[in-house]
Amino acid sequence: LAGGTVDLLEKYGFRVFGPKREAAKIEWDKKWSREFMQRHNIPHPNFRYFENEKDGEQYVRDQYSKDPNKLIYIKAAGLCSGKGALKSTNLDEALENIKQMKKFPDEAGRTFLVEEGIEGEEFSYYAISDGKTYKTFKSAQDNKTLLNFDKGPQTGGMGVISPAMVTSSLEKEIEDHQISKALLGMIEEQNPYIGILYLGGIIANGEPINIEYNARWGDPECQAILPSIQIDYLEIVNSCLEGKLNELDIRQDNKTRVCAVGASKGYPINHSKINGKRIFGIDEVLEMEGINFFGAGIDVVDGKFYANGGRLFSIVAEGENILDAKERAYSAMDRISIEGNNLHYRTDIGWRDIERFRRL
Ligand code: GLY
Repeated sequence: LAGGTVDLLEKYGFRVFGPKREAAKIEWDKKWSREFMQRHNIPHPNFRYFENEKDGEQYVRDQYSKDPNKLIYIKAAGLCSGKGALKSTNLDEALENIKQMKKFPDEAGRTFLVEEGIEGEEFSYYAISDGKTYKTFKSAQDNKTLLNFDKGPQTGGMGVISPAMVTSSLEKEIEDHQISKALLGMIEEQNPYIGILYLGGIIANGEPINIEYNARWGDPECQAILPSIQIDYLEIVNSCLEGKLNELDIRQDNKTRVCAVGASKGYPINHSKINGKRIFGIDEVLEMEGINFFGAGIDVVDGKFYANGGRLFSIVAEGENILDAKERAYSAMDRISIEGNNLHYRTDIGWRDIERFRRL
């Protein structure tokens, strides 16, 4: 999208669903995106942006002289495959993180942001827009770190639940202040947004705050949300392209879904040695009821499955509630293994809502 794929395909007469390059800026230029939020009064963290390392360093020195343990994120303004936001809780970390900005490919960190860190619980929220109106989907909560209870390095997402209880009393607020303002703002700026708008947010003191917008579905959120839709997804996309989204009723079921991701041992740092190893048990899981299995880093040769990547697959289980869905997801995961005991997965996906559910 950032490379202008939609613009190019449209130019050659293809029917294509997604934001044009200029609209996708909401994801690929984090400075533009934050300034857009300012213009449209969308709640977001305080930020400053810098093009010069020295100015950024001076700013973080000032911040830490007032509060030596302040939570601050140093963020590349450009795209960094989800690895461009670096957390600091003291001056040394912040200075080091500013240095790291130079190391991202394609000068993605040439402009960088210094943002106040917001403490709270994260959620993901999605809308589809035809550039005039929008519809929303069930919320989700991604579990981004490698290890249980949000420990270990950041990954692309080790599992997700949908819907997420943390948003249940805040949906109107999220739509009014984070989704509607953004999509109307894009129309007002004559840059209408057609596609999936992904809000990565955080609930701080009961208020949904914007962490980022992305111009796409989230992975693995998408795997847990789309199975709940009761009409053909293609019908939704086509109605967007025809500008008729307002005529569509996007029915979603009432089930809860837990998605657990299976990865190669060593992911996200050093997993290439697992490539080519056999994955067992997939056929059995494909036969299970109430389970969706999505392959990602898998090669299929003569009907056999082989690891080829870091995050290899997602198992999505539906249930009447979070406990039910979790039990089914892990009963499917238990049937899968990788030659040499090389499968890694988190065993606690959805832990926050499981605790909430048990308290009900
Ligand atoms: N699950 C986070 C992302 O897709 O960016």
